[in-house]
Amino acid sequence: MTLHGASVLLVDDHDDLAASLEEILSDEGASVARATTVGEALELAQRRFEVALVDIGLPDATGLSLLPELKAAGDGDREVLVITGSAALDDAIAAVKAGAYDYVLKPFDPQLLLSSVARALEQVRLRGEALTLSAALRRSEANLRTMVDTVQALLLVLDSQGRVVRANRAAAALTGVDVGDLVGVSWGQTFVREQDRDQFAEVVAALVGGQHEHASHDHRIVVEGAAGLHERWISWACSALRQTDASVHVYASGLDVTETRELERRTRLSEKLAAVGTLAAGLAHEIRNPLNGAHLQLRVLERRVEGLDGGDRLGEPVRVVQSEITRLSRLVDDFLGFARPTEIHASRVDLCEVARLVVELERAAAKRADIEVVVDAPSEPVIIEGDREKLEQVLLNLVGNAVEAGRAGGRVEIGVHPGATAVRVVVSDDGDGISPDNLERIFEPFFSTKPNGTGLGMAICHSLVALHGGEMRVFSENGTQVEVELPRRVPSRAQITERAGSARPRS
Ligand SMILES: Nc1ncnc2c1ncn2[C@@H]1O[C@H](COP(=O)(O)OP(=O)(O)OP(=O)(O)O)[C@@H](O)[C@H]1O
Ligand SMILES: [Mg+2]
Repeated sequence: MTLHGASVLLVDDHDDLAASLEEILSDEGASVARATTVGEALELAQRRFEVALVDIGLPDATGLSLLPELKAAGDGDREVLVITGSAALDDAIAAVKAGAYDYVLKPFDPQLLLSSVARALEQVRLRGEALTLSAALRRSEANLRTMVDTVQALLLVLDSQGRVVRANRAAAALTGVDVGDLVGVSWGQTFVREQDRDQFAEVVAALVGGQHEHASHDHRIVVEGAAGLHERWISWACSALRQTDASVHVYASGLDVTETRELERRTRLSEKLAAVGTLAAGLAHEIRNPLNGAHLQLRVLERRVEGLDGGDRLGEPVRVVQSEITRLSRLVDDFLGFARPTEIHASRVDLCEVARLVVELERAAAKRADIEVVVDAPSEPVIIEGDREKLEQVLLNLVGNAVEAGRAGGRVEIGVHPGATAVRVVVSDDGDGISPDNLERIFEPFFSTKPNGTGLGMAICHSLVALHGGEMRVFSENGTQVEVELPRRVPSRAQITERAGSARPRS
């Protein structure tokens, strides 16, 4: 046993006893400070010491009165051992009750006294070590927390039921719910988009059930933003970790990949549109040549027939074929123009007038389907700069789709909503709507759910609107709403970035 490096405060007024105690303690490597009165002891107690040895019978007061002050004084942790005559055992017991570490009865065995001091010292040092360790732990926890709270990734800890145990600030910022309020919330039920919930639950179950240790998974979350409810795509990396109570928690870090996915989608769409354009141009060229040939040959035939007897009778069917060929030729040109529009001829266009004209053109088809088509537009003109024919074509396609989607007795509306810098034209129907999976593909060329559909209508609308510097959005909620936003002025080509429409269910 050694007291090496220990600092001991000895409070005893018996010189002989104190001197021998001091010697014993010093021999063991302790440094000893001595006080003979309560007053002196309190003064010395301000300095550092680890163990105090206090005689209960002091000249100015009982050593018991020193106990609380000795323990509280200074800045360190310390223990007090009391020394008393064997006749005053009650005092000794009272001292221990009042917080002394132990007592030593006089006359004492030096070995016993030393081991008591050593034990008290050990106690003080262990506590000191625990304090240092917990301070270090707190510091490292604070560092980790700062890291967790400053990363842009969403960090979540979920329990085996998928409830949030911990979340970082990024998760709180995206969901709009405070970190504290996220705890206990079911992530799947509260934030994950309905269509992605089952898959998310499967991933959590597989991790909790031990089928996988790690899993990656993307899901959409629905969050409230300045513009109302909207969706974000989050790409998650998840790991399962067993807790001390044997339950399994899922640690998930997620990145918001909404913009990246949107960019990928636009790129795919532009590639497909470009492919359609090339295909259409090639096809139109191939068709136009024989058509031209047929046209010329018919002119020859027409002239020869004119010189014959009964030429009038023969001339009639030739003229019919002639006009059919002309129509076909225009159709090919139109198709080429729509599938691969290169330029627009902008002039002042009244969108209300266009909307009313389109309704007129669609009236017969709508009547056959027993669908009412109405225009909801201001009575005064809503003028924008645009290509009248192309805008007409956009609205015709949209109203056509709406009528085709509607049920007998249904209604289709074209709403014209002017704004300061742009005008929104919304075509709504009360048909069956569009499934979320189809909604994602609606602008893809050749995507059609109709037996005779080309699937080019929406793709063409999209590129025509993009040429005007506008945007298209499709929502499907109680029917379908297709929104076309057109700027009042057509931006220069350079300003029209390759903008694609977006389609999503409104929830
Ligand atoms: N208003 C709507 N209601 C329901 N589904 C729609 C609506 N508009 C478009 N769609 C869906 O989008 C698909 C693509 O539309 P798009 O106009 O591009 O082609 P289409 O109508 O099928 O063919 P086409 O326009 O050549 O006749 C449609 O087949 C349909 O499934
Ligand atoms: Mg269509």
